[in-house]
Amino acid sequence: MLDLSRREFLLGSAVTATAFSLGGVAASQAQAADHALGLGMLDYRILPNMVTKGMMCFAPDGPPPVLRFKQGQKTSIDVRNELDEASVVHWHGLRIANAMDGVPYLTQYPIESGQSFRYEFTPPDAGTFWYHPHCNTLEQMARGLTGVMVVEEAEDPGFDTDLPLNIRDFRLGSDGQFIALFKARNAARGGTLGTVSTVNWKVDPVYEVTAGSLVRLRLAVTDVTRVGRYEIEGGEAQVIAIDSNPLPKPMPASEIVLSPGQRADVALRVPDSEDEAVRLILRRRNGSKVLARFQPKGASAGRDLRELKPLPQNPVAAPDLKNAEVLEFVFGWSPEGDAPQSSLCGTLGYTFWSINRTAWPGDLPGPFDPLATLKLGKSYILRLRNETPNDHPIHLHGVSFQLLRSNKRKLAPLVTDTALLQSEETMDVALVADNPGDWAFHCHVIEHQKTGLAGFLRIEG
Ligand code: C2O
Ligand code: CU
Ligand code: CU
Repeated sequence: MLDLSRREFLLGSAVTATAFSLGGVAASQAQAADHALGLGMLDYRILPNMVTKGMMCFAPDGPPPVLRFKQGQKTSIDVRNELDEASVVHWHGLRIANAMDGVPYLTQYPIESGQSFRYEFTPPDAGTFWYHPHCNTLEQMARGLTGVMVVEEAEDPGFDTDLPLNIRDFRLGSDGQFIALFKARNAARGGTLGTVSTVNWKVDPVYEVTAGSLVRLRLAVTDVTRVGRYEIEGGEAQVIAIDSNPLPKPMPASEIVLSPGQRADVALRVPDSEDEAVRLILRRRNGSKVLARFQPKGASAGRDLRELKPLPQNPVAAPDLKNAEVLEFVFGWSPEGDAPQSSLCGTLGYTFWSINRTAWPGDLPGPFDPLATLKLGKSYILRLRNETPNDHPIHLHGVSFQLLRSNKRKLAPLVTDTALLQSEETMDVALVADNPGDWAFHCHVIEHQKTGLAGFLRIEG
């Protein structure tokens, strides 16, 4: 009853400019979905001999499940919210229909406690992706709600093993319990780092892999803050894709810079000998840290990296640069700093940041104006200008874009959904506006996103 009256209330309000899909209704009636996620609370052992209380999970038994889909095949996911707060789930990097994008009020109503929503989509691209809530985003992600998603290529590229690595920190004290999830003074700067580095919710896990075999490591940085420099040490390793898009030429896996939200697919040829472990290393200013180990086992499979089929390019349209319109976006401080309004999807209580001098007021019913309106099918150059001394990984939903140039450094022409905009950098990226809808556009340092550095682009026909 309560839910119904709430929905009626929402339907009567200004939000209804867009007719949202009532996924919640469908979920209770139709047959089982292909996948199910149950959002809930969990006590779990992240640190040895210590149980962390108050974690949030997608599955009752621990770490977020790896969701596997097939490129070009329709799939469905039932999300049941058993938290005692609202949530929505976003599929980071998937170029799917706007109504399934999982952004509160922009594409759907928040899924309230006790409610369900069925997501249905067909992933057009193959690669490594991830999923996370977009409601009370800092807290829900910080407590554990970040999972890896794999979209498999139609044709198997020929690895022996496929190993997703969900790389993130937790902010835990020495007793293994959560400490303050952020500090305001950090939110106004680079963001608040975690204290415990994990891979797949484990500290320094060891994975046994067949000696001499070919392993696809899928690095996904799902942390709320950390921009990191990663390295695969030992074996023969090459980066073959970044942010789900295959690289024209593989890169050495020695200096992989990944910001929150980014992924790297690495082809690893495991050493022949059990004495030569491979390590995933995080390079930090104050020293390196081993995040995970890959232990060769058994007799060598004798594989060779050259046996792999190159990954097929994803069907991302090439922008028409000659006729592209330039749209400028300035990422800066917040001009006013008003405290945000309270919302079903939480607020951090501060406004520090803005896009084009406007701070996103929070995850509220709106309606709000888009930062820009793009015409369906047309090409655009987004000029991203960072006026701040901090780095901002800028993420766009629904559409992939290509890196063109920077005033600070040479850029590889990568196709991506998340680009690290360095301090004071101006970067041009290009896209074809080929997916209609209202697409969230924000910094993926979640403290920045939740204190103003967010907005959306509208693509209309
Ligand atoms: Cu990874 Cu707006 O999200
Ligand atoms: Cu996203
Ligand atoms: Cu930022």
